[in-house]
Amino acid sequence: MNRNLPDAYTVKAAIALAVRAPSVHNSQPWDWRFTGRTVELRADPRRHLRNADPDGRDLLVSCGCALHHFTVAAAAMGWAAQVHRLPEPGLLARIDLVPHDTRDGDIALAAAIPRRRSDRRRFAERPLLVRDEVFLRKSAADQGAALRIVTDAPHLTALTRAAAEAGGLHRADPDYAIELAAWSGRHYAPDGVPAQNAVLAHAATRELRVRDFADAGLSDTEGRDGAVLTVLSTTGDSALDRLRAGEAAGAVLLTATRLNLASCVYTEPLELTSTRGLIRDCVLDGHGEPQLVVRIGYHPEGAEPLPATPRRPIGEVLRPVPHPYGAGLPIPAQLRGH
Ligand SMILES: Cc1cc2nc3c(=O)[nH]c(=O)nc-3n(C[C@H](O)[C@H](O)[C@H](O)COP(=O)(O)O)c2cc1C
Repeated sequence: MNRNLPDAYTVKAAIALAVRAPSVHNSQPWDWRFTGRTVELRADPRRHLRNADPDGRDLLVSCGCALHHFTVAAAAMGWAAQVHRLPEPGLLARIDLVPHDTRDGDIALAAAIPRRRSDRRRFAERPLLVRDEVFLRKSAADQGAALRIVTDAPHLTALTRAAAEAGGLHRADPDYAIELAAWSGRHYAPDGVPAQNAVLAHAATRELRVRDFADAGLSDTEGRDGAVLTVLSTTGDSALDRLRAGEAAGAVLLTATRLNLASCVYTEPLELTSTRGLIRDCVLDGHGEPQLVVRIGYHPEGAEPLPATPRRPIGEVLRPVPHPYGAGLPIPAQLRGH
């Protein structure tokens, strides 16, 4: 065993935590490989939601979330991830793992992974603590993104207008509806959004219209939604920016979970050019490219804890790549490529 390389079990355990990351419609559009020396992350194009996500933003963002969670899980297991993003066509990340002294903060962040849920219910009406806002903004900034907490009325109005318009455009699109029906309202499936995690968005008068999934088995909470609306943005809109936005989203969501805050990603208005433009121009005032909306707040009072959303078995998402010298063994210097 080479102490400078993780063994296959460690990598598998880290990937099992990484795939608890959120993904659009719980599509889990990732493909992981372990070569014995490095971990590789690719998008799975068969899981690209062509109607909800025509330009593939959500696909890359979802993979970015999982990439972030992998680095967090690896750190908790004693390995620092050195991430090479988009190193060659078709490869989202190549990750080298080097020994790392695990700190308490690494473990606390990794422990948040299985606790996090997308909570689509109305949140309790309580403002975020200034201290928590600082932590959340910093978690995004550390990943090269910006988290705008939308507070003033004109910006909130523009955001809710974009949400309502996007919902209307999607409802009028039969291809979108067919795809959504295939990916939601599920019972006992390893992917897609289960009915037990979705609220009836159209039945409730909500401040922010949320995505209407095919079937909804979760009762929404009464009263006003106390969720704080945030927009995560990057300076550009390249594939790298979208991947980084996903990593930042992963960081913001785990930070929120650590702070015992509820959260849910909401990207419907960013999937359409017109409503995305509205958010860019009228919510961000033209500063940066909006990538996700994230609702953050306090868990609804007295509400039941949410069940975890299922994931595909690890054997389906992690493909072992046989290595001539076996997992964890060093390659002799003369055989290493230069
Ligand atoms: C890129 C992206 C887009 C998403 N868009 C929405 C959305 O518009 N509405 C929503 O309710 N959830 C959205 N989600 C949350 C997923 O549906 C959720 O992560 C998935 O169902 C798995 O559930 P979990 O987060 O509770 O593990 C999104 C997640 C990601 C990463």
